[in-house]
Amino acid sequence: MKLFDVYPLFDVNIISGKGCHVWDDKGIEYLDLYGGHAVISIGHSHPHYVKMITEQVSKLGFYSNSVINTLQKDVASRLGEISGYNDYSLFLINSGAEANENALKLASFHNGRSRVISFNKSFHGRTSLAVEVTNNPKIVAPINDHGQVTFLPLNDIETVRKELYKKDVCAVIIEGIQGVGGIKIPDDSFLKQLREVCTETGTVLILDEIQSGYGRSGKFFAHQYAGIRPDIITVAKGIGNGFPMSGILISPIFKPVYGMLGTTFGGNHLACSAAIAVLDVMKEEHLVDNAAKVGNYLLNELKKNEGIKDVRGRGLMIGLEFDYSIKDLRKSLLYDQHVFTGVSGTNVLRLLPPLCLSMDEADDFISRLKNVL
Ligand SMILES: Cc1ncc(COP(=O)(O)O)c(C=O)c1O
Repeated sequence: MKLFDVYPLFDVNIISGKGCHVWDDKGIEYLDLYGGHAVISIGHSHPHYVKMITEQVSKLGFYSNSVINTLQKDVASRLGEISGYNDYSLFLINSGAEANENALKLASFHNGRSRVISFNKSFHGRTSLAVEVTNNPKIVAPINDHGQVTFLPLNDIETVRKELYKKDVCAVIIEGIQGVGGIKIPDDSFLKQLREVCTETGTVLILDEIQSGYGRSGKFFAHQYAGIRPDIITVAKGIGNGFPMSGILISPIFKPVYGMLGTTFGGNHLACSAAIAVLDVMKEEHLVDNAAKVGNYLLNELKKNEGIKDVRGRGLMIGLEFDYSIKDLRKSLLYDQHVFTGVSGTNVLRLLPPLCLSMDEADDFISRLKNVL
């Protein structure tokens, strides 16, 4: 059987990793400014992470959600503490799209409505509801398109207010920082006013922090720069450092009912031990502060470069916009300079390194980038 060919692949076979570096099958070392698409939070093969998952799998990899799993409670209390959301509840699933599906479903159970407001250039995943609220018609199949989503311009509060005051909108879903959309940051004042209008109109505010959360922005969640508290926050990517896992943080306004949400694999023992290891390391190694410090440094240094049209972002979620297509630049970075980077659209290079990136590694990246500019 061959693989269903949906991914345009780089001709590189990565077989190992350590910290912010990965190695291919020919022994070539690469600097990882991509983090396997913002997934690697604490660094590749962190010894504590390896130890915890190894010990857990040798005891028990999985049992079902029909029995007590104290590891889930451990994840919830540690996550509540580090994020400042101790009073919220946690529901665990397996992927980013699944987190957004459950967030939207919970919102609809709560207020009985079904219209959703999302934003131009948003990305929320590829499954049914998640893709419907994603602003990319190319990946929305006819079976996903129920016409219940309105896409509005980011940062235009008056347009949002007009829609929400129709009082038929179930939820607004918004990324903490738009990733696929090209590292676009919602204004803090926009988020504050959005919070207010959602409350006034009984609309559920969902913050998709799947890419921008878990310390990436230099705060635990990107929306914390605006000082708001959403009704539901979705997390994935960095939560398991590569172990497939996601979650939704749910405000106390929602009342759980047996059976309203559920999953076979979500919150399994192995996933929870990965998540606990991640939170241990984030706390122990002050990785949120490191993301803020090294991210600020990178932003400032990159802004000095005249060859780059715009440099934007927060923490270690950075976009470099060019006047031209970056296809060749990204290839040269990978094949000549041995640096992994991400992309948004055709002109934006996306940096999403592990949160343990050091100042020396940041300097190393800048000098390798200069070689190809
Ligand atoms: C903001 C955002 N939401 C949702 C998703 C979907 O996550 P997953 O691919 O794990 O389903 C992504 C993935 O890139 C994302 O960046």
